[in-house]
Amino acid sequence: MSAGSPGARRPIQRLSSETVERIAAGEVVERPASVVKELVENSVDAGATHVTVRLANGGLERVEVADDGDGIPPGELELAVERHATSKLDPDGPVERIGTLGFRGEALAAIASVARLRLVSRTREQESAEGISVVGGAIVARFSESRSPGTTVEVEDLFFNTPARRKFLKSPAAEPVEVLHTVERLYLAQPRVGLRVESDGREVGTYPPARDLADAAARVLGPSFLGASFAVRVAIPGGRLFGALGRPGVAAPTARGLFVAVDGRAIVSRAIAQNVRLAYGDYLPRTRYPVGVLHLELDPDRLDVNVHPTKREVRFAQERELLDAIRRGCREALLGAPQVAEAPATMARTLHRDPFRAPVESPSAEGAPSTERPTLQRTLEGGLVGSREKPPPLPPAGGHPRMTLLGSFHALYWVAETDEGFVLIDQHAASERVLYEEVRRAGSLQRQTLVAPVTLHLSAGQRETLRSNEETVLAAGFDIEPFGPESYLVRSVPAYRGRSARPEAILELLDELASGGRTTLPDGLEERRAATIACHAAIRAGDAVSAEEFSRVLAALHALPEAAYSCPHGRPIVVGVPRSRVDRWFLRSGT
Ligand SMILES: Nc1ncnc2c1ncn2[C@@H]1O[C@H](COP(=O)(O)OP(=O)(O)OP(=O)(O)O)[C@@H](O)[C@H]1O
Ligand SMILES: [Mg+2]
Repeated sequence: MSAGSPGARRPIQRLSSETVERIAAGEVVERPASVVKELVENSVDAGATHVTVRLANGGLERVEVADDGDGIPPGELELAVERHATSKLDPDGPVERIGTLGFRGEALAAIASVARLRLVSRTREQESAEGISVVGGAIVARFSESRSPGTTVEVEDLFFNTPARRKFLKSPAAEPVEVLHTVERLYLAQPRVGLRVESDGREVGTYPPARDLADAAARVLGPSFLGASFAVRVAIPGGRLFGALGRPGVAAPTARGLFVAVDGRAIVSRAIAQNVRLAYGDYLPRTRYPVGVLHLELDPDRLDVNVHPTKREVRFAQERELLDAIRRGCREALLGAPQVAEAPATMARTLHRDPFRAPVESPSAEGAPSTERPTLQRTLEGGLVGSREKPPPLPPAGGHPRMTLLGSFHALYWVAETDEGFVLIDQHAASERVLYEEVRRAGSLQRQTLVAPVTLHLSAGQRETLRSNEETVLAAGFDIEPFGPESYLVRSVPAYRGRSARPEAILELLDELASGGRTTLPDGLEERRAATIACHAAIRAGDAVSAEEFSRVLAALHALPEAAYSCPHGRPIVVGVPRSRVDRWFLRSGT
């Protein structure tokens, strides 16, 4: 009789407490990084100032968290790993206005039920430490050992007794990166607590106790972040909002660079992230996300932290009002910040420029490499500006119509005349597709050695990603080597047909590799890798591109065996508008 077969009903039975525990554990413990989160939060609640996280084999084999906090009295060790036992709430409530990160008395019990756990602790009053060993939830030993005041929790063989769950774990190589991200989130929520992360005996991340949020932000987001950021400090209903956000030019390709904390708790809030992004409005291209650190100090009455199993999401009272205030506050801070250094990426601002002058190339992060190529600009009033000659028309090929380039607008879209009407071509998508095919064909991109190597700061997470993706980074055309503890020297960059990528593009490549790389159509590991490489070497939105150069890209696109109408992740490259439709717009349907 299988549980699922219809008609064969099982009577209602109470689950054994072990089964209940394991099911509950699944909500709290998903992977090594969630173990680290719970243990470090406990250390923070215990008033620790220094916490060390050690991983063996990405934490799958072993996670250890040691702190110098208040410790657990010997008589309470067993209770600490018991479910619903906590020192952080009064047994009879209330359950609102919670001032600690933990309060459910669940985390240690959950971890202990799906792993082998050792808990060793010494309070300041004790002479030595006492500990217990727990296997799959059952206490198997008690011992004493020497240790300075504080607590160490060791977690071995995560999910050893829930094999199905173990199977779902990501590869060990992916875990240290996730652990670092978790640790960075906790650090930026409580920078007074110093954190260190070791992976297989190697120190991979150091976050010293910081009194100032800005210092901590620089630690995680890189020393150049501060110079490229603006401060946020505004009153919001029921509290205040403060922190620092990156200027539009340092925006990231994923949403992971924005760290948000509420009353010292690192949270994930799509709604807040979205409103911060909205604050940037036209300053950010659609594919970029803000980076920075924001702290909300809120009256606890406006906050419910007990809505999500791992407490990463919270609920706000009068959320709309709060979100509006956050968006307005960030917007005002952005607009009021001292001179934004980068070129505007949008139409509203470009229109105020003299349309007859070739665009000034600026050292923006979005912007172009500073080569002195003349650019092609077409405006309604003027003709072709900056270009010596119109490039010759591209003959039809590979399913593409014959095209004659007319010009580009907003440093992103090219307009070409075809026999049927006209087409619009996305310069980034086109270049990306060509490079993608190149990577798929040759396995790597060509590289251009830099005359003057460029020094870059890599965050701990980026360093770890680099270590586990060396081949991909090399195949992408980047030669990079350590240069001091956190700095790296970029010696070569990807190049294709005379255009080379910015050295900083490697940071975006690393961030994207950390989050699993680009998704592609069709999906596959090789395609994903190729698409990730291609994206970061491609011509970008905002890059000034000459007509001659762009026709080379188009020629390569045309040369593909089959018509490529979409970029590797499925966005269109070419959109056609038939003459007949334009005629209709102008009420010329009769002609
Ligand atoms: N590193 C530590 N230092 C001191 N005490 C600790 C430490 N870790 C756990 N404890 C004690 O063990 C208890 C149980 O920890 P556990 O994480 O299971 O629950 P919690 O933190 O109270 O609530 P939550 O399940 O929400 O995390 C805590 O209430 C605390 O008293
Ligand atoms: Mg806890």
